[in-house]
Amino acid sequence: MRPALEFNRRIPDPLEKATAEHILEIRQWTEKLFSVKVSRSPSFRFTPGQWVRLGISSGSGLPGSVIWRPYSMVSADYDDYLEFFSILVPGGAFSSRLAASHVGDTLFVEKQPYGYLTAARFTGGRHLWLLASGTGVAPYLSILRDPDVWQRYEERILAYSVSYAREIAYRDALAALATDELLGPDRPPLRFVPIVTREAVPGTLHARLPTLIADGSLERAAGLAFTPEDSRILICGNPTMLDDVRDALVARGLRSDRSAIPGHFASENYW
Ligand SMILES: Cc1cc2nc3c(=O)[nH]c(=O)nc-3n(C[C@H](O)[C@H](O)[C@H](O)COP(=O)(O)OP(=O)(O)OC[C@H]3O[C@@H](n4cnc5c(N)ncnc54)[C@H](O)[C@@H]3O)c2cc1C
Ligand SMILES: NC(=O)c1ccc[n+]([C@@H]2O[C@H](COP(=O)([O-])OP(=O)(O)OC[C@H]3O[C@@H](n4cnc5c(N)ncnc54)[C@H](OP(=O)(O)O)[C@@H]3O)[C@@H](O)[C@H]2O)c1
Repeated sequence: MRPALEFNRRIPDPLEKATAEHILEIRQWTEKLFSVKVSRSPSFRFTPGQWVRLGISSGSGLPGSVIWRPYSMVSADYDDYLEFFSILVPGGAFSSRLAASHVGDTLFVEKQPYGYLTAARFTGGRHLWLLASGTGVAPYLSILRDPDVWQRYEERILAYSVSYAREIAYRDALAALATDELLGPDRPPLRFVPIVTREAVPGTLHARLPTLIADGSLERAAGLAFTPEDSRILICGNPTMLDDVRDALVARGLRSDRSAIPGHFASENYW
């Protein structure tokens, strides 16, 4: 006789594929945006720009019941903690539980990071453009603290689109890049182009990214042009933004970067 469905009844143990970390710090940016710092296993390694699956207990009381979602690392690869920047989706299975967490609570971090939204993927180019909507800025904070990115590229441009000015997170970390000695001396500062779409704010652009690319406003604000020779572009966040930005870049003579055919831009879809 067959052993009574033992295989099907096995409850997966999250610690087979993840480590149990604890929350060290929570920073609230707005009612819907927050960051969490968690402890980091010494064996966890990643390339800036990559993401990892995070697991949080469903609270159902059932053993092994964990909800998993991908999150980009915000922290540098040399930080001894991991940091993540999160949206709170009202009623969202994962983010509503994460938003209700406290310092000391457990967060599972998968042992294996993933993703190709990295600066090192490109061949050629002198200018690294980082285009983000909302929490899509997360991987760029890690990329911008990578000394290789400051050596390999002559210029770095961050265009960060949010609906309202108060949703621009990490202004302090972006400002700190200017004095970060790890990134090396004598390099031009980050060209930061904040974009605020639903209110007019001095010092920011006031239209969606595809429009700003098509009408040349983004290049004027950055002081650099998009060219196939110079530009290497990462795009991250809202999937409809990704589609429209890719179309706008193709219209400018740029093409997607693929392993078989090197190109100029690569993107990561958050949902
Ligand atoms: C490769 C990858 C990396 C990701 N990195 C991050 C990250 O660093 N930070 C982060 O907040 N999210 C990130 N996400 C999204 C994240 O995995 C979850 O979708 C998010 O936490 C919401 O989970 P949820 O279970 O509450 O809602 P879900 O059921 O997962 O999503 C419900 C809906 O919420 C909206 N939504 C989901 N994520 C976002 C978001 N980030 N911003 C705006 N609207 C959103 C979409 O409309 C989605 O259909 C990433 C997704 C992918 C695929
Ligand atoms: N932030 C808000 O006030 C608001 C309002 C309603 C719903 N929500 C929901 O809340 C969640 C989080 O929103 P979020 O504001 O963090 O992320 P988001 O909706 O991706 O918005 C972030 C930025 O991306 C822009 N954007 C959105 N779609 C775009 C597209 N197709 N092309 C170019 N740019 C685009 C937004 O412009 P726009 O401001 O023009 O959209 C905004 O500047 C989402 O599920 C969203 O649907 C947010």
